[in-house]
Amino acid sequence: MTPSASSGEAEPRIRVVDLTMAYGDFVIQHDLTFDVTRGEVFIIMGGSGCGKSTLLPSQIRELASLKLSLVGLGGFEDFYPSEISGGMQKRAGLARAMALDPDILFLDEPSAGLDPVSSRLLDDLILQLRDSLKCTVVVVTHELASIFTIADDSVYLDAETRTMLVQGNPRTLLAESKNPKIHAFLTRGGQESERAPAGNRSGVLPGGTA
Ligand SMILES: Nc1ncnc2c1ncn2[C@@H]1O[C@H](COP(=O)(O)OP(=O)(O)OP(=O)(O)O)[C@@H](O)[C@H]1O
Ligand SMILES: [Mg+2]
Repeated sequence: MTPSASSGEAEPRIRVVDLTMAYGDFVIQHDLTFDVTRGEVFIIMGGSGCGKSTLLPSQIRELASLKLSLVGLGGFEDFYPSEISGGMQKRAGLARAMALDPDILFLDEPSAGLDPVSSRLLDDLILQLRDSLKCTVVVVTHELASIFTIADDSVYLDAETRTMLVQGNPRTLLAESKNPKIHAFLTRGGQESERAPAGNRSGVLPGGTA
């Protein structure tokens, strides 16, 4: 993933082009191509083990490497503080501060382990960050309530074919996608009562009220 350098409103903040992710010879995902628009909440969806976290840590590692190289510490990514000199530690501290780039936020299952109310408060905070700080937020989550509440856009990564199946607003995908995997994911395996009203981004939870 490459953070886009442009400051234009319509320009993507993150652009992914023909990305293949692998651990050694084992390809996790291939041919991923999508844009994340500036100032939106973007969800990475998909079943367990399909590579969502890998897509997210790959981005974190890339950003960390970039900041480290900016302070002259390229290649020292895997060194412990005790293995580098005092001066290098100071520069690593600088890189750490620079890494706290509030412009983009990456969250991997942020509400895991939270009770439903806390989870909803976290969703509100995410939307607040997007709206007040104009933060671009990329979130990995399985929680349908969160997905339908906070998402502007999303991708679905498929573990079987090891590539993305669709990109789009989850409500639109639910209403319009003919893909049974997307439908099953967004309805918890096909429960009609879980359907969310299409086109509604006001925070109405599937099968419930706002
Ligand atoms: N460090 C690693 N070395 C080798 N294989 C790994 C490593 N980390 C993850 N994998 C494998 O890569 C695949 C994708 O893992 P990843 O953690 O990205 O999945 P995920 O979509 O985040 O899953 P979950 O929803 O369970 O969190 C899995 O098959 C996993 O076993
Ligand atoms: Mg994960």
